[in-house]
Amino acid sequence: MLKQAMIGILTEVEADELYGAFDQIGNIIILRIPDSLLHKRKIIGEVLLDKVKTARSVYCQSSPVEGDFRIRKLELLAGEDKTETEYKEHGCRFKVDVEKTFFSPRLSTERDRIAGLIKEGETIINMFGGVGMFSIVAAKKKKCHVYNIDINPDAERLCSENILLNKLKGTVESIEGDATKVIEERLLEAGDRVLMLLPERSDEFLDSAIKGAKKKAIIHYYCHIHAEKKDQVALLAPQYFLSVVNVKSEILGAKIVRPVGPRFYQAVVDAAISK
Ligand SMILES: C[S@@+](CC[C@H](N)C(=O)[O-])C[C@H]1O[C@@H](n2cnc3c(N)ncnc32)[C@H](O)[C@@H]1O
Repeated sequence: MLKQAMIGILTEVEADELYGAFDQIGNIIILRIPDSLLHKRKIIGEVLLDKVKTARSVYCQSSPVEGDFRIRKLELLAGEDKTETEYKEHGCRFKVDVEKTFFSPRLSTERDRIAGLIKEGETIINMFGGVGMFSIVAAKKKKCHVYNIDINPDAERLCSENILLNKLKGTVESIEGDATKVIEERLLEAGDRVLMLLPERSDEFLDSAIKGAKKKAIIHYYCHIHAEKKDQVALLAPQYFLSVVNVKSEILGAKIVRPVGPRFYQAVVDAAISK
């Protein structure tokens, strides 16, 4: 569809390139436009807005995901300048703000995978929970209690709204603050499972994750791994985890979550720790 719409504006190769850099979140389209096509960005935006009937706004990403809040700058290409929208996934509804908070539709499979691993009755600490995506998908699927911590006040506010939207009051708890402090102050040895989805800084927070974990618990440790070949990641990521963790750990599994650059991957290690 995108290809057809772009006939006369882009070559087939250019349209293919753009397709891989296209996300639709609710009624917002976000594009990562390659430098070679930047001069055509407004017309690309207008064509998309016209062709994608469910779109209200088209933005292009004008900065990488950056800073403590892991957010990106957006430039409006066409339509209404409104970065908040509603997004549906795995039977849940989410209010998201694609500029003020981190959000990625590309983590949908990973959210479903984590929800599938949870056992009924677990207490989960989601240290970098954002607007509550992982927490809410998990709590909808399994009877559990989730602490969703985030340092970004907008993420905390949206998570609180998402808890109500999905009728999970009392099951998922939205907490604003630094995960280390929140764990020290109120969640010591509370988690059967701890999620650490801040791959750039996991090592910095690993001690806190362990403090928040019960004597026996599972940690989902996300990291970035360089590998010449894709199939090396499932070996390299656990090796790396075992070199930085300071409690007894058994590797339950490891996999690529998504590629983040040439020979560079976001990976997850599932580990059973005991202390
Ligand atoms: C990569 S995002 C993941 C968000 C969420 N898990 C998701 O998948 O939508 C990392 C999140 O960690 C939050 N964050 C960064 N530093 C933090 C800290 N010290 N304590 C708690 N949250 C933090 C950011 O605001 C951001 O929302």
